[in-house]
Amino acid sequence: PRLIGVDNACEWICGGQQKRSADAMKDGAVDAVVAAANVVSSAEHLLQQVLDGKLDYQARRERLQAAMEFSPIEKMMIFESVRAVVGAKAGRHYPAPMEAIKSVEKGIFQTIDKAIETEIKGFVKMAKSPVARSLVGLFLNDQLVKKTASKYTKGVEPVSHAAVLGAGIMGGGIAYQSASKGTPIVMKDIRQEALDLGMNEASKLFGKQVERGKLSSEKAMQGLGKITPVLSYGELSAVDLVVEAVVENPKIKQSVLAETEAQLKEGAILASNTSTISITHLAEALKHPENFCGMHFFNPVHRMPLVEVIRGEKTSEATIAKTVAYAQALGKTPIVVNDCPGFLVNRVLFPYFAGFSALLKDGADYQAVDKVMERFGWPMGPAYLLDVVGIDTAYHADQVMADGFPDRMGHDGENAIDRFYALKRFGQKSGSGFYQYEADRKGKPKKLASAEAQGLIQSLHGEHQTFADEEIIARMMIPLCIETARCLEENIVASAAEADMGLVYGIGFPPYLGGALHYMDQMGLAAFCEMADRFKHLGKLYEPTQAMRAMAAEQRTYHQY
Ligand SMILES: NC(=O)c1ccc[n+]([C@@H]2O[C@H](COP(=O)([O-])OP(=O)(O)OC[C@H]3O[C@@H](n4cnc5c(N)ncnc54)[C@H](O)[C@@H]3O)[C@@H](O)[C@H]2O)c1
Repeated sequence: PRLIGVDNACEWICGGQQKRSADAMKDGAVDAVVAAANVVSSAEHLLQQVLDGKLDYQARRERLQAAMEFSPIEKMMIFESVRAVVGAKAGRHYPAPMEAIKSVEKGIFQTIDKAIETEIKGFVKMAKSPVARSLVGLFLNDQLVKKTASKYTKGVEPVSHAAVLGAGIMGGGIAYQSASKGTPIVMKDIRQEALDLGMNEASKLFGKQVERGKLSSEKAMQGLGKITPVLSYGELSAVDLVVEAVVENPKIKQSVLAETEAQLKEGAILASNTSTISITHLAEALKHPENFCGMHFFNPVHRMPLVEVIRGEKTSEATIAKTVAYAQALGKTPIVVNDCPGFLVNRVLFPYFAGFSALLKDGADYQAVDKVMERFGWPMGPAYLLDVVGIDTAYHADQVMADGFPDRMGHDGENAIDRFYALKRFGQKSGSGFYQYEADRKGKPKKLASAEAQGLIQSLHGEHQTFADEEIIARMMIPLCIETARCLEENIVASAAEADMGLVYGIGFPPYLGGALHYMDQMGLAAFCEMADRFKHLGKLYEPTQAMRAMAAEQRTYHQY
């Protein structure tokens, strides 16, 4: 603050961004920016200025070590606006930026030695906080996940030409991502309109990069040129890897996969972007199931960092390695998981949705649930998330999950998702679901309350009941956490680090909690099991496993950082 002013300093400190030298110069953090070759001569020149009495560094040092002077009004105005800006950005779960402002606010009225003491106290307080533990845990887990992925790809030839089947939300996104990262891709659909839409979306995304100054128009054109839209299979004979992203229907997928396999060169890889359908089951239609695996992207593809690579019963390790390499080439973080309905992320997400449906059944107001879960740290509440995922997608996936795990995920009677599906209220894509959607000025869907949806749910489940925030959080989080523990126990996912990173990167699990397993560790498994037992009347999704109880008794944790 003494050097570049309080506003700038708070922005530098709380933003945590790297600064370019030109910006540092502009803000006054440095005296000069010189070419690397001139560093020594520039320093000598500076020293000469000091020797010649042209530069009084001592006066400057004194100023930088002294307390600053502000009138109370000035101080109030500066810090009120800084606090508002930083508070809005950091949110309620990340206390460090606000603590930093507190230190600055106190420190500017102290001499530098005292100010440093103030800063140290604030830093130590933050470093010992549970949030710091979670975030340090995330950092370590991220390293571990990346290292694990790199082990798979040692010596693997990169995919030089790819293809995607389906030019829908996901297919279009995959085509853009591949092209923008430099791997040419054929995009196949059965409808010209779908291809046009897919190309349009890709072109918009490239356009945004140009707008933001991240890409020249020429490079954007070159990128777009890397996508070849086609209606026939002709172009597929040359590709190394095909991602299938057609509609989520096992019969259609099996027939498309078998048709595609017949077009491919020997050893080419076929991967399905299915959200839930078992890879081993889809492989039954193929002559070379060893060349087939799951490659599950998340929506929107260009923004979500995770890709689940799913190993079916017959998938070869070479297929996994090549698919992991392709995911890395797309700039994604791949996690290899074993096959089961929903794999890791959706297997854990659907119990969370089941918790939501049970709350609605007991009369909870979904807008209240959304608010509580958003305040708790999720990027969006469950009703909004279902609308974004698509009620149709959620309905089909829910059936796959219920078939796969009938004792835990099967449900009796019609719920809101079933009712909305029957009425074709598919969520954001159809303009209505739990909420109503209207295009805003930029053409983006804007979420509005829907009296119709409220009425439909009340006709199903009766009048609203009020639930305490803690109860909503517990009822939503317990099934998700227990299912994550099950995935680890059943070796669907190989490590606690991969499980937690999968949730943070795939569904935006609140980072300040570090992932589902870290969350239970932090709470203490014994306390978690006790909490789950209070809700055991809600069914098997709320029942901790034997292994969890044993770990609780021995006070063990999932992570040992
Ligand atoms: N939407 C999501 O959030 C999401 C997230 C992860 C995975 N997925 C999975 O990705 C897949 C695609 O989902 P989507 O949301 O992109 O669906 P979508 O309906 O937007 O797109 C599907 C596309 O496939 C095309 N298609 C149908 N049959 C075809 C065929 N025989 N050959 C080529 N193209 C064909 C359709 O014309 C359509 O353009 C599904 O398996 C879905 O479960 C979706």
